[in-house]
Amino acid sequence: VWVPEEQVGKIVEEIKARVKEGIVVVGVSGGVDSTVTAVLLHMALGSRVKAVFIDHGLFREGEPEKAVQLLRSIGIDVLYIDARERFLKKLDGVSDCEEKRRIVGETFAEVFTEVVAGIPNAKYLAQGTLYPDVIESGAVKGADRIKSHHNVGGIPSWFSLELIEPLRDFYKDEVRRIAKSLGLPDEVVYRHPFPGPGLAVRIIGPFTLEKLEIVRRATKIVEEELDRAGLLRKVWQAFATVGEDKWVGVKGDRRAEGYIVTVRVVESEDAMTADWAKIPHDVLDKIASRIASEIPHVTMVTYAITSKPPSTIEPC
Ligand code: XMP
Repeated sequence: VWVPEEQVGKIVEEIKARVKEGIVVVGVSGGVDSTVTAVLLHMALGSRVKAVFIDHGLFREGEPEKAVQLLRSIGIDVLYIDARERFLKKLDGVSDCEEKRRIVGETFAEVFTEVVAGIPNAKYLAQGTLYPDVIESGAVKGADRIKSHHNVGGIPSWFSLELIEPLRDFYKDEVRRIAKSLGLPDEVVYRHPFPGPGLAVRIIGPFTLEKLEIVRRATKIVEEELDRAGLLRKVWQAFATVGEDKWVGVKGDRRAEGYIVTVRVVESEDAMTADWAKIPHDVLDKIASRIASEIPHVTMVTYAITSKPPSTIEPC
C-alpha cells in the first residue's frame, strides 16, 4: 500500500540530491500545499531555503500573520512582502472578473520577480503543485477554460530559475496526511482551498475597499460559526461574497439601504463538482444574524443553493 507519510524521507533525499548548491525560493500563502513544500525543503536544505510571502491585501483576517509566524517558529527564513497598496490601488473600481484575476496574477508576477532578483544566489523555485494541477494544466490546453486560475500550470516564462515541485505526485488528502505527520497544526492541515486572487474573486461588480472589508468580516463569521457547530472541517469551502445589489433594512428605527451578503458553503471531493451544503437552519440563522448586526451597511444575508454544475464554486 502507498502510505503518503512514508514518502517524506524519499522526498527529502530527492531534494538533497537535486539541489547541490544555491538558494531555493518558495512562495508561501499559508495554505497546506505551500506550507508542506516549505517544510520539506527546510528538512532537506536548512538555511538554503528562502520562503517568500507576498501580502496582496486579499487574504482572510489574520492569515498573513499566522502563516509567517508558523514558518518562522519552525526555523524557516521568511521574507514578508507588504504589497497591499500596490494590488489594491490597481483593483480599485475594476468590475470584470477576468480583469481582476489578470491584475492580481500580473502584479504578483511583478512583485515576485523583484523579490527574487534581490535574493543573492537564488537558483531554484519551489511550488506546491499537486498531481491534479499537473493533470489539469495539461488537460486544459486548447480546451475552453472557465476561469483563469492563477497558481496552476508550469513555471512562468519570466523566470530563469529551475522548478522544484516536491508534491507533484500527491493528491490533496495525501498532502494533508503528510502535513499531519510533520506535526503541522490542524488549522493548516485542514485548511480549505483558497483562490490565488483571494477575496478579489468574492467581490461581484466594482472592487472597493468597503466591499473587501465586508467580505473579510463576513467570512470570519461564517468560519467561526461553522467551527463552533463542528462543521468547518466537514465541508470543502465556506465563505461570503458581496455584490452591488441593495436591500432596504432597518437599523435601530431608521430606514437603511445596505448590501446583500451571500454565504456559500459547499461539499466536494475535488472541486470539479460540488454540492451546496445542507447546513442546519439554526447555524445559518446564527451566521445571518451576526453578519447583519455586526457588519455596517449589510441589511440582507442570503444562502447560495446552487451546486456545481451549473454554478461554479466561487462567484467570479
Ligand atoms: P470554481 O469557482 O471554478 O473553483 O468552481 C474551483 C476551485 O478552485 C478554486 N479557485 C482557485 N484556485 N487559483 C487557485 O489556486 C485561482 O485563481 C482560483 N480560483 C478559484 C476555488 O476556490 C475552488 O476550490
